[in-house]
Amino acid sequence: MIISSINYKGGVGKSTVAQNLAVALVHQGHKVCLVDADNTRATSSWSDRRDENGIEPSIPCISLTNPKSFAKQVRAQYEQYDVLIIDCPPALSPIAVKAMYTSHFLIIPISTTGGSDVWVSEQLLEKFQEIREAKDDAGDDPVNAQLLVNMHRSNVTLHTLAAGIVEQLAETYEVGLFKVKLGNRVAYGEANVSGLGVVEYSDRKAKVEIDRLTRELVALATA
Ligand SMILES: Nc1ncnc2c1ncn2[C@@H]1O[C@H](COP(=O)(O)OP(=O)(O)OP(=O)(O)O)[C@@H](O)[C@H]1O
Ligand SMILES: [Mg+2]
Repeated sequence: MIISSINYKGGVGKSTVAQNLAVALVHQGHKVCLVDADNTRATSSWSDRRDENGIEPSIPCISLTNPKSFAKQVRAQYEQYDVLIIDCPPALSPIAVKAMYTSHFLIIPISTTGGSDVWVSEQLLEKFQEIREAKDDAGDDPVNAQLLVNMHRSNVTLHTLAAGIVEQLAETYEVGLFKVKLGNRVAYGEANVSGLGVVEYSDRKAKVEIDRLTRELVALATA
């Protein structure tokens, strides 16, 4: 399965989700490769740090940022793996569009810290609708999408209101919504700087969240 962690909005957790899912799936025995489609190379650096720190299992990461060759290179890489996870750049860019076309599944992290996260995500969902229809018309493999609430603080009114708007977005655009919400936890950043995923780290709550996210994803993928 080819999965993209995508949103046009920056800083919503695309790279964090891509890395943590890769770690969780690798520990379940899947053959996983990360694709860093962002020029800033955040996930490539994380993968390098993982290797420098001798963390096993190693998770390969290839950097693919040329929109012209992107789809072909992704498909070629996919032949060697069970799962590719594409970490997308925060832009309405040709590469993000290519990633949507090439993927079987989109995970769209949305932070509930402010309104603009939700508004920008709507632009992505508009584009997703176009792509879903175009793929359907062409008889291509379907692409599914699930929204994921990230950096959530359930005791903050703004966050619960924003989570309600995310639910409405899922209905309006006929996409899924992960039941699990990722909380706002320092552990996500702490694990990242060491080249770890939170399932390999000491924060129990973060680990439970990523375990739940992975279970939901696997259930959807095998449904
Ligand atoms: N659930 C969370 N709780 C706390 N911090 C988080 C959480 N998710 C992500 N972060 C932190 O927020 C910052 C942005 O996350 P990340 O880099 O994953 O976002 P991104 O969408 O990939 O950003 P960009 O658009 O720049 O690529 C990072 O410092 C990361 O550690
Ligand atoms: Mg990123």
